[in-house]
Amino acid sequence: KILILDFGSQYTQLIARRVRELNVYCEIHPYNRIPTLDAGVKGVILSGSPYSVRDEQAPHPELGAIKGRLPLLGVCYGAQWLAQNYGGQVEPAASREYGRAMLNVTDREDALLKGMPERTQVWMSHGDTITLLPAGYRVTASTDDVHNAAFRIEGEPTWGIQFHPEVYHSTDGLKLLENFVAGICGCRRDWSPESFVDATVRELREKLGDDKVVLGLSGGVDSSVAAILLHRAIGKNLYCIFVDTGLLRKNEFTDVLASYRHMGLNVKGVQAGEKFLGDLRGVTDPEAKRKIIGRDFIEVFNAEAKAIENVQWLAQGTIYPDVIESMSVNGPSATIKSHHNVGGLPEEMHLRIVEPLRLLFKDEVRRVGRTLGIDPLILERHPFPGPGLGIRILGEVTPERVAVLQEADRIYMDALKEWGLYDKVWQAGTILLPVKSVGVMGDERTYESCVALRAVTSTDGMTADWVHLPYDFLARVSNDIINRVRGINRVVYDISSKPPATIEWE
Ligand code: XMP
Repeated sequence: KILILDFGSQYTQLIARRVRELNVYCEIHPYNRIPTLDAGVKGVILSGSPYSVRDEQAPHPELGAIKGRLPLLGVCYGAQWLAQNYGGQVEPAASREYGRAMLNVTDREDALLKGMPERTQVWMSHGDTITLLPAGYRVTASTDDVHNAAFRIEGEPTWGIQFHPEVYHSTDGLKLLENFVAGICGCRRDWSPESFVDATVRELREKLGDDKVVLGLSGGVDSSVAAILLHRAIGKNLYCIFVDTGLLRKNEFTDVLASYRHMGLNVKGVQAGEKFLGDLRGVTDPEAKRKIIGRDFIEVFNAEAKAIENVQWLAQGTIYPDVIESMSVNGPSATIKSHHNVGGLPEEMHLRIVEPLRLLFKDEVRRVGRTLGIDPLILERHPFPGPGLGIRILGEVTPERVAVLQEADRIYMDALKEWGLYDKVWQAGTILLPVKSVGVMGDERTYESCVALRAVTSTDGMTADWVHLPYDFLARVSNDIINRVRGINRVVYDISSKPPATIEWE
């Protein structure tokens, strides 16, 4: 495997994803917690960083155990640290260098640059530049502005590059990474969804033996894939619980439950809508609603988990970005986790945690899901918040308002699928607003509710932009909702990006 030492760059995860795309397994670790370098580690990549190597508080790790012993590639900040720490010089660039640049490969025999064209586009993002390389370092490529754009150290397997090979705009970046991980490090390219499934099923069997495991299904991608994987490993010893909060999309509970059963899962559907809606009566504050829904969920889940005799494990659908974040250089940030709704199980149950997806990125979870034969309708689902329609009904949540929103939302979702737009959108939803407005239907004056439609593109939910859905599509959906849903006489489309707005309205 390849080890990636993280100096806090926004691109670190992208390096890992590219390496995995080459079917080579890799792990990200913070620069200040370098794990033991066992024989499995074939090479190390040093990431970029928001810091300048000249800053006192910047990462200045000791690389003695790695440099010269294992193949090493410094990217951007990593390259600058390899220069500065060994007798070179790094200074502020005369002009900050961001964006595309043309790289002239001067040493086309170099093992890292082999097979790249003489001139190729690369992506730069740095404020400092290496003005002097230490003795024994040799320049292998330059751009017009950056002489020391790529270098290697004579007599040892160490390389540095000032540009970012991992971003899409570095045209031959993947080739360079391939040269490093496959050519130089000699990694076997056998990391695939199939090999992951085989290895994980084997490990889970060993780890869990005849123990019983409980898992909360949400209908989403992660918990579904985790469940099927565990089911392959331990069969009926996996006990799944799927809670109907009364705040799911229309028919979601029955549809999803049926498809889980169809896949052979041992799943208990718990209809707890009355409890949730009862506790939400009269509550309008968004955070108060979230708290009630979270608390109720834990109560219902716990009661069900406790009823399973001798259960020893709690399985969760945690994925790699959550793991990286929780141990990141910058410390955990305020990202919202999709799985944070399960938790807070009573300590006296002494449950141990098993997280079979904790090494996978989202797209890999989907690939694994496809390998496992999971219904594409589940794998390609949009993210859906734990509190469900509870935070898409602004103001009080009543059974009547849930029903109205479910109808409108169903029309919108069906239309997105029918028009081939569902897969082009990262997340879509319908919001019931706490306002009424005047309309006219036939000869009658109406005074009814309004819904907002939301559709965004995003990669991780941290930033998002609204989708330019076709006018014809919006016209059709608006018309269908107003004609078919009693209680709604107006539809609006949300054209706000995040930031400064958020994806959900509450
Ligand atoms: P915002 O509204 O913060 O949403 O832009 C970002 C992503 O997080 C989801 N979201 C939640 N998920 N519990 C969840 O499990 C929550 O309380 C929650 N609030 C927002 C939202 O749907 C979007 O995907």
